[in-house]
Amino acid sequence: MNMKYTITTPLYYVNDKPHLGSSYTTIACDAIARFQRLSGNTVLFLTGVDEHGQKIERTAESKNLQPQLHCDEITEKYKYLWDKLNISYDRFVRTTSPEHKKLVHDFYSKVLASDDVYMGRQSGWYCVGCEEYKDVDSNEEDPMCSIHKKNLEWRDEENLFFRLSKYQKKIEELIHLDGFIAPKSRKNEIINFVSKGLKDFSISRVNLKWGINVPGNDEHTFYVWFDALLGYVSGSLVNQQAPEITDVSLANWPASIHVIGKDILRFHAVYWPAMLLSAGMEPPLSVFGHGFLTREGQKMGKSLGNVLDPIELLEYGGLDAMRWFLLRDIEFGEDGDFQMRRFVDIVNSDLSNTIGNLLNRTITMSKKWFKDSIPVENPSFTKSHLNEISNIKINQYMQSFKHNNFKDAANSIIDLANSANLYLNERAPWKLIKDISNKEIVANDIYSVLESCRLIGVLLYPFVPDLSTRILDQLNIDSSSISFKKSLEWGLLDPLNGLKDAKPVMNKIEYINSSS
Ligand code: MSP
Repeated sequence: MNMKYTITTPLYYVNDKPHLGSSYTTIACDAIARFQRLSGNTVLFLTGVDEHGQKIERTAESKNLQPQLHCDEITEKYKYLWDKLNISYDRFVRTTSPEHKKLVHDFYSKVLASDDVYMGRQSGWYCVGCEEYKDVDSNEEDPMCSIHKKNLEWRDEENLFFRLSKYQKKIEELIHLDGFIAPKSRKNEIINFVSKGLKDFSISRVNLKWGINVPGNDEHTFYVWFDALLGYVSGSLVNQQAPEITDVSLANWPASIHVIGKDILRFHAVYWPAMLLSAGMEPPLSVFGHGFLTREGQKMGKSLGNVLDPIELLEYGGLDAMRWFLLRDIEFGEDGDFQMRRFVDIVNSDLSNTIGNLLNRTITMSKKWFKDSIPVENPSFTKSHLNEISNIKINQYMQSFKHNNFKDAANSIIDLANSANLYLNERAPWKLIKDISNKEIVANDIYSVLESCRLIGVLLYPFVPDLSTRILDQLNIDSSSISFKKSLEWGLLDPLNGLKDAKPVMNKIEYINSSS
């Protein structure tokens, strides 16, 4: 059944150019979006940038730039990188767009109408990096942010507050729903947080110019998170030019999934649903909080200065290598450490050897022995067990992918490729073919392995669309025509289609010690 599927990346702060952490989330979302499209669903894939707030204002100031100019500059860098990473996003949200501003005002009027806003006083320790007040032990003298490793700043000001406490019960019900928060460890963390009782939170700032004005309270601008979360709605509206909250314009809402890092889970799983409920809108269907990419065991982050530049990694290993490694080696949901040696080993072993060589040697044999083409399978022969294995592996792949378990899904592909390699080695068609009476047996063997390669090519598509396209192209299949419904049955490889010349589909990466 065709379903609507709306997926979002976080809207990234434009305090600096994108790093490997932001690339990681976006690549994961791209894989999900591609998987959903292959599954026959109509996908709306949103990404974008979060441009307001003190953090951005200060960064622009330090560069002696007008905030808008600074935002434009960094936004271009995000768009450039997403193109390089072959991110198939449908819309790019900017929170400085006039349409978004209009939407924020429209939404605010609904929250006001629910009587969920009041004026109060906020005092506490604030992290500008997180744009968040932090709970601090009252004995601490110079408290620091554990994420940004920077001093917190004391604030005491008049703010507008949102009545989060009113939604305690509804949020409790929501977070207990099966599948609303994943993985499980994150769900428990939120259940624990909510059980302590929800406190109202401030949604406006005074003395901050770089933000959206609060109608009726001229000296206030909206708190950056209140503004940014709404970017998901403004980006999903059917009519982008007329940003109104109506049933018709909300046809792509609620989001099917927000994919985010674990540090911003509360905003997405607690504050955001409550804001939506207040405006009479539906909360998202699910929130997935992944782990941090670390380097030398420390979170990689712009403000920590230990980032691995995605462009450099791309130039070094190539796009397929980068995408494959991030999705295949790190358990989605857990933290993962990036090590150059491991990156090179995994990519060379999986993509160049196990998959690339399999395809290359089988195409070479097929063309040599079967008139430059694919042999015809003889149906009266017993089918090779690769048929059965592929069914099992496809099933495992589907189950894993549906739970965003990229690692296991990728392993299913490698298992299938390993089985095909083993099959070739055991059958040794290069020996069998020496006796011409074996030709039909060899034909069936070669067909089975090529058919496994076709399936591998299809299954790889969400992970590494470029490599998948190269594999399918050698088998003379147009990757834009594939779908899970039409392409995963055994025996669809058509000998009449012919084969292209065998070319290595994935070059090996050479390990250079200095890049680690
Ligand atoms: N602007 C907010 C999000 C607003 S969404 C309406 C924000 N931006 S961010 O640029 O700081 O972070 C965006 C995402 O990148 C977060 O999900 C964060 O967890 C993720 N990552 C930042 N550093 C990361 C790693 N080192 N590893 C993996 N992801 C990390 O928060």
